[in-house]
Amino acid sequence: MNKYKSLYSKFLKANEGKIHFACHSHHYWPDCTREAQLEYWEDSCKMIDNKWEYILTEKVGTAQRLLSDHLNFNRPNDITFAPNTHELVTRILSSFSGKIKILTTDSEFYSFSRQLNRYIEADLIDATVIPTLPIETFQERFSKASHEGFDVVFTSHVFFNSGLAIKDLNLLVEEISKNNSTIIIDGYHGFMALPVDLSKIGDKIFYIAGSYKYVGAGEGCCFMTIPKNCNLRPLNTGWFAEVSTLENVNDNEVAYPKDGMRFAGSTLDYTALYRLVSVLELFKEENINSSLIHKHVQECQKSFLKILDKINHPHLNRNNLLVDDIDHHGHFLTFNLESTELVNSIREKLESNGVLTDSRKNRLRFGFSLYHDHTEYSEKLFTV
Ligand SMILES: Cc1ncc(COP(=O)(O)O)c(C=O)c1O
Repeated sequence: MNKYKSLYSKFLKANEGKIHFACHSHHYWPDCTREAQLEYWEDSCKMIDNKWEYILTEKVGTAQRLLSDHLNFNRPNDITFAPNTHELVTRILSSFSGKIKILTTDSEFYSFSRQLNRYIEADLIDATVIPTLPIETFQERFSKASHEGFDVVFTSHVFFNSGLAIKDLNLLVEEISKNNSTIIIDGYHGFMALPVDLSKIGDKIFYIAGSYKYVGAGEGCCFMTIPKNCNLRPLNTGWFAEVSTLENVNDNEVAYPKDGMRFAGSTLDYTALYRLVSVLELFKEENINSSLIHKHVQECQKSFLKILDKINHPHLNRNNLLVDDIDHHGHFLTFNLESTELVNSIREKLESNGVLTDSRKNRLRFGFSLYHDHTEYSEKLFTV
């Protein structure tokens, strides 16, 4: 029996009889998040206007320290929060004037790709888009393309439409930073899934992730580490950027903080940050870190694949699986099938067996999590 399941008792009970293989999309929340949600209400009730000082120093400070521990990032004050990644990315982009030259991939999440397409349509961005497949050569092709020099380089660590991961993030950043100063890593599918260590590259990149996925703290709390001595001046800037110490500037200039608050927006509901803190504190108490989670998920993935090999499924088999190195892969496995219709029909059949999956067009995704117990997987579940 997986002892970590007890931490998720409420979500597991509410979904009894189902195995949640869509955790890469919507992670179950540990029970402690309920208390955290209520704590926000209580604090608002007790502190009224004074809550902001408490939240912005105590709670945000705690979140910054806990996140820094997980990322091996040594400048906790250089972490900014926002309700979603879109807000953070568009704020960075607003720092540039004229047409922005961007290097990116063909596998970025809609939040970025839709915005990128609109910018391109408006003739505000000139993008070079590198296909992620074949993944074996991606890192080399992307690094080579970066030699040209861009205003912004944007790539995911783990790609949302496959689970494939950049092989050596340190090496990639090292290469890109030779000719590019604004590098954004979308870490949403890597954070608290693959072990991430920013000690060597944190000074050179914006690393963006959020609490909704592998932390399991729900929507509404994304964060970003900023490069060391970042002096970008986002045009899109909110008044929360005034609550930190500001740089000295001329009277007619807008001053920015020197820390992560440089990229702050405006008033937001910190309930989600309370939930994030509660989960990170729980993980600390239980000695749960990304290496432990990753090891658990790898066992689940291997056990799942063994079952599929056994049942010899016509579609869900290794020939259709998008994997390069199973030991260095995101926490979901993706089957690239013939059509969206086929994916939808398999998904429905799986659902009637209590197996909840999700898909992106003709790609069917199976996610694995700390709250999975692979001894509960069976041939019967996947025989559809
Ligand atoms: C790779 C990636 N980045 C970002 C996001 C979230 O984007 P946003 O916070 O802008 O909704 C997701 C959500 O699924 C994602 O998969």
